[in-house]
Amino acid sequence: MESPFKSDVVKGKVALITGGGSGIGFEIASQFGKHGASIAIMGRRKQVLDDAVSSLRSLGIPAIGFEGDVRKQEDAKRVVESTYQHFGKIDILVNAAAGNFLVAAEDLSPNGFRTVLDIDAVGTFNMCHSALKYLKKGAPGRDLSSGGGSIINISATLHYTACWYQIHVSAAKAAIDATTRNLALEWGTDYDIRVNGIAPGPIGDTPGMSKLGPEEIETTTPREDMPLYKYGEKWDIAMAALYLSCVSGKYVNGQTMVVDGGCWLSKPRHLPKEAVKQFSRVVEKRSRAKPTSKL
Ligand code: COA
Repeated sequence: MESPFKSDVVKGKVALITGGGSGIGFEIASQFGKHGASIAIMGRRKQVLDDAVSSLRSLGIPAIGFEGDVRKQEDAKRVVESTYQHFGKIDILVNAAAGNFLVAAEDLSPNGFRTVLDIDAVGTFNMCHSALKYLKKGAPGRDLSSGGGSIINISATLHYTACWYQIHVSAAKAAIDATTRNLALEWGTDYDIRVNGIAPGPIGDTPGMSKLGPEEIETTTPREDMPLYKYGEKWDIAMAALYLSCVSGKYVNGQTMVVDGGCWLSKPRHLPKEAVKQFSRVVEKRSRAKPTSKL
C-alpha cells in the first residue's frame, strides 16, 4: 500500500530499530528507509539480520545490522555506539524487540516470567538508557536547531484489561507503557526528547501472530466481535511510527497510540441488534407509563 507521507519526511535522520530484522520492526525499518532515513537494525539472529539488511539495501536504503541481545546492557551500549560510529548520529530509537509465548499462569516458571520482562521491559530501558547521550538536544552529530530525538516503544493492549495465558507479556507491556510516560516527562523536560509508544492489535503475518495464534488454533477469518472485522497490517504500525517520528508528531509526547482497529474494546454482542430495535421503545414507553420508584 502506498504511503500517504511525503517520501522525504525523515530524510537525513538515523533510526536504530531493535527487533528490526523481522515482523513489525522490519516494516518500520523499511518504511523509515523509504522515507529518507538511514537504518541500523539490532537482533540476535545473524542470518535474519543479514537478510533484512540486504533487502533494505536493495531498495537503496543505507542500512546496517548489529547482532545483540537487548537484555544485556553491554550489548545495548555496544550497538548504540556502533550505530553512532557508523552514521555519525542517532535521531530515532524504536524498541520493537519482544518475546512471547502462550502459557497458563500456573505453568509459567518464574524464569519464564522474568525472561519476557527482561526482553520487553528491561530491554527497552537498556536501549533508551544507552541512547540518551545521542538523542538529547545538542548531542554529538545533532544539529542544535533540530532539538532532541525521539523514541518509540512498541507495546500492546493486553494489560488494559487482562489477557488469557499472557500474564508475563501483560506485565511487561504495562512496564513499557509506564517507562514511556516517565521518560516522556523526564527526558522531554530535560533533553527535548519525545518518547511515545505504539500498541498494535492483532497484526497479520508477524512472528507474534504466528506464536499467539498458531496454525493449530488459528481460524482464517477474524472473530465476528472484532470491530472492523479484520486483522491489521504491519504497514499500519509503520505509518503510526512515521507519524510519531516526523514533524507531524512534534507535540505528541508520552502517548501510546493504540493501532488495533478498536479490538481491545471488543466484547461479544449480548443481544441481536434487531431485538434491541424491537423492544427498546416499548420498554421506554412502559417505564414512562408506570414509573417505578426505588425510594
Ligand atoms: N511455555 C512455558 N514456558 C516457556 C515457554 C513456553 N512456551 N517457552 C519458554 N519458556 C520458559 C523456559 O522454560 C524458561 O524457563 P525455565 O528456565 O524456568 O524452564 C524461560 O521461559 C526462558 O526460556 P529460554 O528458552 O531459555 O529463553 P530464550 O531467551 O532462549 O528465549 C523466548 C526467549 C522464550 C521469549 C523465545 O520465545 C524468544 O526468543 N522469543 C523472541 C521472538 C518472539 O517471541 N517474537 C514474538 C514477539 S510478539
